[in-house]
Amino acid sequence: MNILVVGAGMYVTGRGGYGPGVILASLLEASRELPLSKVTVAAIRSENESYLLETTQRLNQQMNVSVDVDFLALGRVGVASLGKGFLSQFDAAIVCVPDHFHYEVSKHLLGANLHLLVVKPFTSKFHEAQDLAKRASAANIFGMVEFHKRFDQANRYARKVIENNEIGTPLYSVVNYSQRRVMPMDIFKLWARDTNVSQYLAVHYIDLLWHLTQFRPRRVLAVGVKEYLLSQGIDTWDSIHATIEWETPSGGKFVSQFNSSWIDSNKSSAMSDQTLLIVGSNGRLDLDQKNRGVTLTTEQGGVNEVNPYFADFLPDLEDDLHFSGYGFECIKQFIGDVMGLASGSSNLEHLKTHRPSFQDALVSSAVLEAINNSLSDDGTWQEVPNASI
Ligand SMILES: NC(=O)c1ccc[n+]([C@@H]2O[C@H](COP(=O)([O-])OP(=O)(O)OC[C@H]3O[C@@H](n4cnc5c(N)ncnc54)[C@H](O)[C@@H]3O)[C@@H](O)[C@H]2O)c1
Repeated sequence: MNILVVGAGMYVTGRGGYGPGVILASLLEASRELPLSKVTVAAIRSENESYLLETTQRLNQQMNVSVDVDFLALGRVGVASLGKGFLSQFDAAIVCVPDHFHYEVSKHLLGANLHLLVVKPFTSKFHEAQDLAKRASAANIFGMVEFHKRFDQANRYARKVIENNEIGTPLYSVVNYSQRRVMPMDIFKLWARDTNVSQYLAVHYIDLLWHLTQFRPRRVLAVGVKEYLLSQGIDTWDSIHATIEWETPSGGKFVSQFNSSWIDSNKSSAMSDQTLLIVGSNGRLDLDQKNRGVTLTTEQGGVNEVNPYFADFLPDLEDDLHFSGYGFECIKQFIGDVMGLASGSSNLEHLKTHRPSFQDALVSSAVLEAINNSLSDDGTWQEVPNASI
C-alpha cells in the first residue's frame, strides 16, 4: 500500500513537541502486519524534510522495519498543487494539518477519490463537515476521523458499562480536560488564534459521549475566559466552559458540562489532565485519564504521571520495541479498513456505522459550531443542527 500523509508536524513526526509523534511511528508499526510499502509525507515548508528523513531512519532502525518514506514540499499553493494523476498512485491519505485547513485539504483529496483519515476536529463548521461527508458518500470513499479515544480500553470499558445498563440511564456528565500552556504558547503558537481549546480538546469527549450514549445533542451554552493568553499576545480563549443538553431516545434529558483549558502550568505532572464522570439513574462511572497509576520521578524531570496506554514504544518479551497504544490502534484500524475495502472483506455501509466515519463525526462538528456561536453571542443558548447529510 502507498499512503499519503499531509502535514509533517508534531503529531506526525514529533517535531517541535515531545516524543516521537504518533502517525509516522504508527504507520511503521502497522507495516509489520499490513503490506505498507511506501509513505509520502507532504507539507508546506521544505524545512520539514530533514527532520522527517532523520526520524524515519531512526525509527526504521529502532523498530527493525524498513518502510520507504519520502518528503514532498508543497510550497504556498498547498495540496492544490497535487493533480488527480499524481494522487492516483495512493491507496489512502491521512490529513494532519492545523485545524482550520482540514476542510480545504480533505476536499481536494476527496476529489481524487482517496480514502481519508482526518485528525480531529473533523471541522469546526457544520456545513463543511456535511459537505465532506456528502462528497465521500457520493464517491464511495471511506472517510474516518481520528477519534482515538474510542480505542482507549478505559473508554471501551465505559461503553460496556453503559450498554449493559450497569449505571442505569445516563443523566449527567462532567468532563475536565486541560493541557500545559506550552501547547498554545509554543507548539501551536502559529495557529492557536485560528482554533480554540474546545476544538482542540473538548471535541474528543463530545465525540466520546455521542459514541457511548447515541443521545442527540439539542442545545449548547458556552462561556470562556480570555485573559492570560491574550496578555501574552495570543488571541485565543484560555478556557471554555460549555453546557450541552442531549435528548435520550425516550425524550428524556442528559446534561454534560465540559471545562477545557490549555493554560495549565508547564510544571504540571502530565501534559494532559483529563477526567470524565457519568452519573446515571443507578450509579456513576468515574474515569481519571491522567492518573493511570504510573508515576515516574527523576532528578531532571521531577514528577511525571505517565500514560503508557496512548502511544509509546514498549518492549515485547523478545526485547523488540513496538509502537503501541490506542493512538496506534486507531491508525492501524484505518489502514486495515482500507485494505478490507480493496479485498472485499469489508464494506462502506458497515464502516459508516461502526467507525468514527465522516457521517458519524457530524455530531461533533454540529456541537462545535453551536459552542462557537454561543461564545460569540455572549453565552446564549444555541440550537445544535440535526447531524445528518
Ligand atoms: N499534537 C497532538 O498531540 C495532536 C493530537 C491529535 C490531533 N492533533 C491535530 O493534528 C493536526 C496537526 O497538529 P500538529 O500537532 O501536527 O501541528 P503542527 O503545527 O506541529 O504541524 C502542522 C503541519 O501541517 C503543515 N501544514 C500547515 N498548513 C498546511 C496546508 N495548508 N497544507 C499542507 N500542510 C500544511 C505544516 O507545514 C506542519 O508540517 C491538528 O489538527 C491538531 O489538532 C494533534
